[in-house]
Amino acid sequence: MTTRAGKTTVKASTNAKKKAPSTSNATPLTIAMPRGRILDEALVLFKRAGIDLGAVEKARAGRKLIIPIPEHDVRVLIVRDADVPAYVEHGAADLGIAGRDVLEEQDRDLYEPLDLGIGRCRLVVAEPEDRPVDEMAKVHLRYATKFPELTRRHLQARGIVAEIIKLYGSIEIAPLVGLADRVVDLVSSGETLRQHRLREVETILEVSARVCVGRAAAKLRSDRIDDLVARLRAVVPG
Ligand code: PRP
Repeated sequence: MTTRAGKTTVKASTNAKKKAPSTSNATPLTIAMPRGRILDEALVLFKRAGIDLGAVEKARAGRKLIIPIPEHDVRVLIVRDADVPAYVEHGAADLGIAGRDVLEEQDRDLYEPLDLGIGRCRLVVAEPEDRPVDEMAKVHLRYATKFPELTRRHLQARGIVAEIIKLYGSIEIAPLVGLADRVVDLVSSGETLRQHRLREVETILEVSARVCVGRAAAKLRSDRIDDLVARLRAVVPG
C-alpha cells in the first residue's frame, strides 16, 4: 500500500478544497465503522475533514445500523469492531475503520492506507501482582485473551509454550478466578488492570485505528477512496 499511500498524499492539497466528493459511481461509498470510542473520535476527524457524519449520531440513538448520508454520497454501516475487516474484505463495505489489534489479529487481505491516530491503546501481557509467572519453570501456563493469534505469535517469538484460552470480554477476571495465569488484553487508562491488581509484564502492540480498504474497492472506487483518504490525511495529527 506504500504506492497508494503516496498517491493520496500528493492529492491531499488539491482535493481538500473541493466542497463534495465526486458522485460518479452509482452506489454511495460504503464505510464500515465500529461502534464505541473509535466511532466518536472518527466522527470528529471526518467533520474536520469536511465530511459531516452527524446523522450517524442521531441514527445511533434510534439504533439504526445502516445510515445514508446523501449529502456526501456516503453510507455508514455500524458494526462490531472485530467485524469491520470481514465487511471490507468481502466488499460489503468499500472501506472501514478498524483498530490495528483487530487488523493484525485477523490478518486479512486488506490495504491500510492511513493510520488515523485515534482509539490509541496498547495490547499487553499482564499477570496478578501477587502471583508473577516464572516463564522458565516447566509448568503448564494458560493465557486468556480476545486475541489468540497475536498471543500465539508473541509466545512463539518468546519461545514460551502455553495454552491459549479465547475469551470475548472481561478478560481481567480470568487470572483472579483460576482460569488463566496471565492475560493478553488492551490497556487504555490502565484503570481496569489496577482495579483487578494486575501488573503489566510487557507491551505486545501499540494500537490505533486505521482506514482499511478491500482489493476490489481499491480498484473500482479508487477516486472516491483516494479523495477521502487525502481529506482525512490532511487532518490527522502528525
Ligand atoms: C477494554 C479492555 C480492557 C479495558 C481497558 O475492554 O479489554 O478491559 O477496555 O481500558 P482501561 O485501561 O482504560 O481500563 P472493553 O471496555 O472493550 O470491554 P471488555 O472487557 O468486555 O472487552
